[in-house]
Amino acid sequence: MSPSQFLSQCTASAISDAAQVLANGGLVAFPTETVYGLGADANNADAVARIYEVKGRPSDHPLIVHIASMQQMGQWSDEIPEFAIDLARDFWPGPMTLILKRSDLAKDFITGGQNTVGVRIPNHVVALALLEAAEKVGIQGIAAPSANRFGQLSPTTAAAVQVELGAFMKDADLVIDGGTSAVGVESTIIDCTGDIPRVLRPGAITDEMIVESTGLQLRTHNAREEEIRVSGSLENHYAPIATVILDQQPVAGQGFIALANISTPEGVSRLAAPADNDEFAHLLYAALRDGDIKGLSHIVVTQPVGSGIAVAIRDRLMRAANSSETA
Ligand code: TXA
Ligand code: MG
Repeated sequence: MSPSQFLSQCTASAISDAAQVLANGGLVAFPTETVYGLGADANNADAVARIYEVKGRPSDHPLIVHIASMQQMGQWSDEIPEFAIDLARDFWPGPMTLILKRSDLAKDFITGGQNTVGVRIPNHVVALALLEAAEKVGIQGIAAPSANRFGQLSPTTAAAVQVELGAFMKDADLVIDGGTSAVGVESTIIDCTGDIPRVLRPGAITDEMIVESTGLQLRTHNAREEEIRVSGSLENHYAPIATVILDQQPVAGQGFIALANISTPEGVSRLAAPADNDEFAHLLYAALRDGDIKGLSHIVVTQPVGSGIAVAIRDRLMRAANSSETA
């Protein structure tokens, strides 16, 4: 049993209690449409320091500030380009994080010492209710990374949060159960500090959607160069314990994840058979976790092809497979 409280009845009074936990400097793990986040008051240095402790994450990694409204966006950044406003109007609340030049409100303990800040309005009734209740008690944003130990898979259920972090949270902290995250992979991160948008992490808001919304082309980049240039770079592993192998024929005793139209060879443990790419994203992390629970040493994944959310799925799978190689 973990010491933190587990909240599955998301009543109005439960949500305002959770906001009070944040106001008292506690941590609240909460559902979003992408993955679960581990939240703290983004203006409370001690509370934010506890996020790093509980995650076991290096403290120079910047955190995303979750906000309730476009007005709050203007509190965290006083230099917002037109194209960022277009994106916010089109895709918030939603699975998109905008990197903006920071205002004085965004301190080094949020930005990892960079002069930029990441902000996002999540699209989940519980997350939005929590953000609004938090705003009422004076909280201007909730800093929240994915609610997993550093380098592990992001949780898409409250139960997975308990497995990841339960042992590291305190009595006064809270985990809110808001069901399974609909999208299943982390938000698209878009750097809005240049004259055109640049995608730092692919997600459900795709390149095509960004181009359509802004009328601008995207700045392209070499992924390796990116990792070196963005200090506090994106985590380069989203990995289960099992070794992840991509696009090979699975053999008996191995786990297997592939679209439903691909059959399961004899003796192979099928972990997911999604009907389409959206369902693939939705099921992926839970299926990889399931492979670990079953004690499988290898999980083979047949990657989805094409554009859209498939790009984000392949990005996470490539990282999972790489960290298998270097583990
Ligand atoms: O979907 C999501 O984005 C989830 C949910 C909880 O909102 N959050 C999430 O946070 O994935 P996290 O911390 O696990 O991943 C955010 C990534 C980190 O790799 C961090 O380095 C990067 O975003 N990031 C945050 N602020 C940044 C900034 N100012 N500049 C560049 N990268 C930034
Ligand atoms: Mg993360």
